[in-house]
Amino acid sequence: MCGIVGYIGNKEAIPILVEGLKRLEYRGYDSAGVAILSNEKIIIEKESGKISELEKAISKSPLPGNLGIAHTRWATHGYPNKENAHPHADCTGRLALIHNGIIENYAAIKTNLQANGHKFITETDTEALVHLIEEYYCNGNNLDEAVRAALSQVQGTYGIVVISSSEPDTLIAAKKGSPLVIGMGENEYVIASDVSAIISHTKNVSYLEDNEMAVVKRNKVTIKTIENLEVNKKVEKIAFDLDKIEKCGYDHFMLKEIMEQPQTIEDATRGRLIAEEGTARLGGIRHEIESLIYAPHMLLSACGTSWHAALIGEYMIEEFVRTTVEVEYASEFRYRDPVIERGSVMFVISQSGETADTLAAMKEAKRKGAKVLGICNVVGSTIARESDAGVYLHAGPEIGVASTKAFTSQVTVLALLTLLLARMRNLGASKGVEIVNAIKALPKSVAKILENHDTIKEIAEAYYKSQNFLYLGRGYNFPVALEGALKLKEISYIHAEGYPAAEMKHGPIALIDENMPVVVIATKDSIYDKITSNIEEVKARRGRIIAIATEGDEEIKKRADHVIYVPPTLEFLTPILTIIPLQLLAYYIAILRDCDVDQPRNLAKSVTVE
Ligand code: G6P
Repeated sequence: MCGIVGYIGNKEAIPILVEGLKRLEYRGYDSAGVAILSNEKIIIEKESGKISELEKAISKSPLPGNLGIAHTRWATHGYPNKENAHPHADCTGRLALIHNGIIENYAAIKTNLQANGHKFITETDTEALVHLIEEYYCNGNNLDEAVRAALSQVQGTYGIVVISSSEPDTLIAAKKGSPLVIGMGENEYVIASDVSAIISHTKNVSYLEDNEMAVVKRNKVTIKTIENLEVNKKVEKIAFDLDKIEKCGYDHFMLKEIMEQPQTIEDATRGRLIAEEGTARLGGIRHEIESLIYAPHMLLSACGTSWHAALIGEYMIEEFVRTTVEVEYASEFRYRDPVIERGSVMFVISQSGETADTLAAMKEAKRKGAKVLGICNVVGSTIARESDAGVYLHAGPEIGVASTKAFTSQVTVLALLTLLLARMRNLGASKGVEIVNAIKALPKSVAKILENHDTIKEIAEAYYKSQNFLYLGRGYNFPVALEGALKLKEISYIHAEGYPAAEMKHGPIALIDENMPVVVIATKDSIYDKITSNIEEVKARRGRIIAIATEGDEEIKKRADHVIYVPPTLEFLTPILTIIPLQLLAYYIAILRDCDVDQPRNLAKSVTVE
């Protein structure tokens, strides 16, 4: 989604801003721009397309200055062209503003301002805000007061940074519903929507909360609420290093993150398994165990890949804990007035911890009295801060837009949660020990699947020109079929559908012919015989079968055109293994189709608008 970087200090701002934008590239964007206070004037450069286009434009006329703002845009209001790219200026050219989020009442604000003589030149909602600030600024307020007054008129969400040529020592940042972090250097500050744009300058950061505004000078930052009440902020330390957000020799972040999974799965379990007692400990939710044990009903809410992890969680918790679980898209939950029983617990699952729909679902559930617990990756994210308690994935930064390692970590954490609760309800110690051992074996099994990448590459070569793919799975591997199809769609733009295998006969079977590759997850489990029947149904219609099977299953070779083996594990843990070849298959197909896997078209890493 959109990215924000701002700088105030004594160094040249442009290199810092451009480096920051590049670090935010992974969030997904379609245009970019900078505004610099240079020789007492605000100079704005913007370009549509890649950041390299912006760099070219800047290199033609260097912009000296040590106060500036920069933005990568992901269009919501107005076409992704140069005019609509941020920063936006007011009528006088004194002010420049960058904005993430949506100003919902922009049309009314714009009409009023136009009646007062303001000239608009873009189709964006953001431009209304900069003119509104101008309106208050021209009435004798300083920048701080003018921004505060304007924000009090605004409905919607924002993370904004504003500068003025009349106040060369000030930068204003404000937040409501869209993340902003202030990096605290030595007489310099880097403001960004994501710590990855800050970490090469400082590890000391303060996260702005909703309705807070920072007045940042070269040697001091003051944080107040929009109502002008001073706030005492903690300075926190970013816990990871720069190398965690670099490619480390891999061609793409996505491949690096797929390959990291033996480590990230281990990190998700580190210190959390109690082998001798056959259970798990999850420190972040230790004070909530009672509410969980006695919850009459659990809700899991999420978006995208995280929603697929939630579906697996539902199967796990219902099987082992015997509590009813409902999984719901956050975007549906937030608007449909759901019934929340007394004592209900909701888990919100999110890699970024910033997805707008998931945040709204969390707030709605809280409003209706549910206890809300988070499962998220980004430390200090809004979900981490605003949920009642939670569990971190500890997967490190995930940069690839298509989520991979976060998914396996989410499923691993859900398995730990299941084990913990089941052992407190009705699961015996010996079964608990068996589960602990199976979880411990997962990293090695994942490493073994990854070693087999050449087989997966060959399959990709055979099918990368296909127009459609079908993914089938049952039980725990039904959500894996959905996730495998999503990976392919996201990065290779091939139409792919995930289906519960038995449902195929109620419709999708009509699509099957010799041109249809069908990926079937057919591990040796309680429904193996059922899924082999589904394979026969596909074969009878000449569909091409790519089977994900359990090592040692030689029989399946007679039915499938291709087999990718995964090591055996307990049935409820199979998704953590079966998704790995599907991630690699999607990756290799996308590469063969020459798609930009780290910057897939139209997609954003973190969707901070609804
Ligand atoms: C975006 C990303 C997906 C991700 C979804 C939910 O659409 O492209 O990969 O699954 O958001 O993100 P979250 O950060 O909440 O897990």
